[in-house]
Amino acid sequence: MKRKFLLAGAFLANIAAWATPEYVPVSTFNTSLILQLDSAAAPALVYYGPAVKGDLAQIAASAPEDGKSDAYPVFGNYPERESALSMTMPDGNMTLELVPAGEPETEVDHNGNTVVSIPLADRHYPVAVTLNYRAFPKEDIIETWTEITNKGKKPVTLTRFDSGAIPFRSTDAWLTSLYGTWANEGRVNTEPLTPGMKIIQNKDGVRNSHTSHAEVMMSLDGKPRETSGRIIGAALVYGGNYRLRVSTDDHGRHQFFAGIHPEESAYRLMPGETFTTPLLALTFSDRGMGEASRNFHRWGRQYHIAHGTEVNPILLNSWEGVYFNIDEPTMAGMMQDIADMGGELFVMDDGWFGRRDDDSSSLGDWEVDARKLPHGLKGLTDEAARKGVRFGIWIEPEMTNSNSELYKKHPDWVLKAPHRDIVEGRGGTQLVLDLSNPQVQDFIYNLVDTMLTNNPEIAYIKWDANAPVMQYGSQTLPADRQSELSIRFHRGLTSVLQRIREKYPDVAIQACASGGGRANYGLLDYTDEFWVSDNTDALQRLGAQWGTSLFFPAVTMGSHISAVPNHTTYRVVPLKFRCDVAMTGRLGMEIQPRDMSAEDRDFCRRVIETYKGVRDVVQLGDLYRLVSPFDNRGAVSLMYVSPTKDKAVYYWFRTNNDYSAPLVTRTPMEGLDPDASYKVTELNAIDQRPLASEGKVFTGKFLMDNGLEIRPNHDLPWGKKVDYCSRVLLLEKQ
Ligand code: GLA
Repeated sequence: MKRKFLLAGAFLANIAAWATPEYVPVSTFNTSLILQLDSAAAPALVYYGPAVKGDLAQIAASAPEDGKSDAYPVFGNYPERESALSMTMPDGNMTLELVPAGEPETEVDHNGNTVVSIPLADRHYPVAVTLNYRAFPKEDIIETWTEITNKGKKPVTLTRFDSGAIPFRSTDAWLTSLYGTWANEGRVNTEPLTPGMKIIQNKDGVRNSHTSHAEVMMSLDGKPRETSGRIIGAALVYGGNYRLRVSTDDHGRHQFFAGIHPEESAYRLMPGETFTTPLLALTFSDRGMGEASRNFHRWGRQYHIAHGTEVNPILLNSWEGVYFNIDEPTMAGMMQDIADMGGELFVMDDGWFGRRDDDSSSLGDWEVDARKLPHGLKGLTDEAARKGVRFGIWIEPEMTNSNSELYKKHPDWVLKAPHRDIVEGRGGTQLVLDLSNPQVQDFIYNLVDTMLTNNPEIAYIKWDANAPVMQYGSQTLPADRQSELSIRFHRGLTSVLQRIREKYPDVAIQACASGGGRANYGLLDYTDEFWVSDNTDALQRLGAQWGTSLFFPAVTMGSHISAVPNHTTYRVVPLKFRCDVAMTGRLGMEIQPRDMSAEDRDFCRRVIETYKGVRDVVQLGDLYRLVSPFDNRGAVSLMYVSPTKDKAVYYWFRTNNDYSAPLVTRTPMEGLDPDASYKVTELNAIDQRPLASEGKVFTGKFLMDNGLEIRPNHDLPWGKKVDYCSRVLLLEKQ
């Protein structure tokens, strides 16, 4: 007892003792987040909003009289309140009381961004907690994360470990979030925050953007708008299970929390160990969701997307074209065709290894199927070089099948609970490997390492993951660590990806998981892009990509031209419309070119050439969403503007061909330089006569005040008329 007391006493000596409260601002160019520290109390988060200039005492003088909100509420006193952190001490005490344990520290990181750290400690127990805030001035983003350290001699058990919390007040607050499962990704849900608790969570274990997304926008001024109103945006940078929640009381007080999902995930923190939460990225905009999105996009491209500041190669992926029917002549033909159309990369999808003629076998047996590819990967990379395109390959390394050689050899490598039958997924045989097992991590790393070392020409990996965790249980983790499986699985995955990235920094990686199941910033740290959806129907893609764009820039969104009837919806959409939709993202192709007419292939060749001329604007420019597919206005419109505002690409899509439906044919543009003049050129034009605006010059102000009238039907000869219309306009500063 005495010893314990002494230890705690020594620890307490570190606790800061300043008399008057101190303000700690975390500032970006346009926003401030302000903490208030008091030696005797938990730190408060007293402000998050437009940049506060001048004396910070303004904050206190204008503060609500009914109490401040803790910056990082902990479980203990007033247990009915929501908390970000809870733990059980070695003596069974489940409460925490955190107070400052030293002066806040400020440090400039290697990118020149400022990190403010607030050291805290429990009043009695040897537990240290550091709240961290990194400010990105230009992007108006603040990342927050928390480190929890056990400074005692016995383990403590963490039972809740949010990355951060943000209190806000509004009597008309709304929440916007994304939902959707396979073939229906990126759906937008907008709802008022009413008293009670709104929870957004994912417990899939693998595919963490099916069905929910780890990003939200919270509007403080009623139903959110694109160009006005105060918005707090939040994105959890984590590819594992998560929980985001907003607790709302009956007086317009809200508290937002986000972090790793704590359910069934108690974590034993050993003496000396630090638990670091994932980053939670926050943005504040007083000009609506559009600006909040652009903030996320700029920050993402610069700091959290592999090769996020570079344009991508235009690829053909073999999946929808030939599915499992891989063989050398077919692959060579596809390489030739994409090269002829001006593409730059060919990606061989599923079906090249083991005996994988359908989805019921061979995952884990990553040997080339010599029946299909007698000259191995070398034969393919040589062929690609001859055709003048780069080569990419599909793998699904976290998975195996129950009939695989790998499973026979290592049955203990899959996720499985004792005394339970295995649960099999896709193809009736798919199993998930246990990534908490270091041997499995090495197996996956070695698979990729060997493949890339033996075939240095491989420029791209499509990294797929087509199953959730289907049975909870690790055959590796000890009994008293089973509850850490979800956390350790994800750590295993990121550590493998990190090792791969370190050795192969130039290889592009696409994250795919049953389509768009891995659209999140936690994985984009290691990956270049994600596959938005297996649903490649152009009309549906407009919605999926719109929703996804709330948080992710176009450079991350694989957006491919596919065949008609579409393989998911069976809809027949004209090629021009399909190409124009693909041009709003990271354009590629997902089709067997040999099944296309020569005319269609030629059209695609011209589209690819055109796209090359604007892809820097689309992928690296600023997005302005103009008319939402979710508002049912008969049309969808958006535009990208280059950072220097010298070039813009404007899109308009007719989504309803019913004469009784309202149709927006003109909408003010955004983001242009009002004083500049822009010349208009229609791209991918198919009409017999040009638009009235063709080749004409307009001021940025005129375009932003009035927009341009769009002809809503294509002027085509009788017999060639189509029931779809889309326009892509290039605006070039004169
Ligand atoms: C998943 C992906 C597809 C394709 C197949 C291959 O469904 O989403 O794009 O790669 O796997 O089996």
